[in-house]
Amino acid sequence: MSAEQSKITGLAAALAETLGDAPEVAVVLGSGWKQQAAGLLSEPQAVACSDLPGWPTPRVAGHSGELILGTVAGRRALLCGGRIHSYEGYPAADLVRGVRALAEWGTSSLLLLNAAGSLREDLPPGSLVALRDHINFGIPSPLRADQTADGSVEFVDLVDLYEPAWREALRATCPDVEEGVYAGLPGPNYETPSEIAMLSRLGADLVGMSTIPEAIAARAVGLPVMAMSMATNLGAGLEGSRPSHGEVLDTAAEYGGRAAEVLAAAVAAAPQR
Ligand code: HPA
Repeated sequence: MSAEQSKITGLAAALAETLGDAPEVAVVLGSGWKQQAAGLLSEPQAVACSDLPGWPTPRVAGHSGELILGTVAGRRALLCGGRIHSYEGYPAADLVRGVRALAEWGTSSLLLLNAAGSLREDLPPGSLVALRDHINFGIPSPLRADQTADGSVEFVDLVDLYEPAWREALRATCPDVEEGVYAGLPGPNYETPSEIAMLSRLGADLVGMSTIPEAIAARAVGLPVMAMSMATNLGAGLEGSRPSHGEVLDTAAEYGGRAAEVLAAAVAAAPQR
């Protein structure tokens, strides 16, 4: 077994030992989503990421490193509060080890949440947007041979990566949720106004620095995935916007109530096992 595969298997075993049966839905929380989300769970059971061998711990304010298992909308759900990012200096294999271990543990579906800049004036801060697709502008792939679990290259198609049926089920109960295309950039700097203008012309609706590696890794192991952004700011230069991490966290807190409701609806709409 490769060194990476034994870390994944060790982590899956630690999850099973600490939390028991795998959840139906695992939710990776993005910037600012955690505070409101934790209140959704009944009978919550928390474990620190630092107590799970192999689960990398985050270095960014607003990404508390804790997993919380409980029931949301009658379904066994695990909220994962410790997302890490490429811009923190982690290799792609580290970014997705949690996803690979969740799949090995037996998790049935994966919901990825993030904060994003909006490229559309009709998606103002606070808008909730289900990803219809993404365009990757250079966030490293977890499927490169030196980043996979077993060292092999994986050629994986990404058509309908973000489960159409899951999105449709969510939007049936939450018609205020829009759909959009997420442009992923490696960060950590925000974009230039010219980059924002380019992304917009190329068909993106949102811009962010996360989510894509986890979604690709989930597809590679056959884990159904959906992703949702909260637009926390207009992209740089739009209506004079100068994004900041403080603005991102403040907006996420301000609109967190509705975000938590939509999160619960998304868990309820997840594919059945
Ligand atoms: N750009 C990139 N990532 C982001 C932004 C943004 O404007 N807002 C929140 N995450």
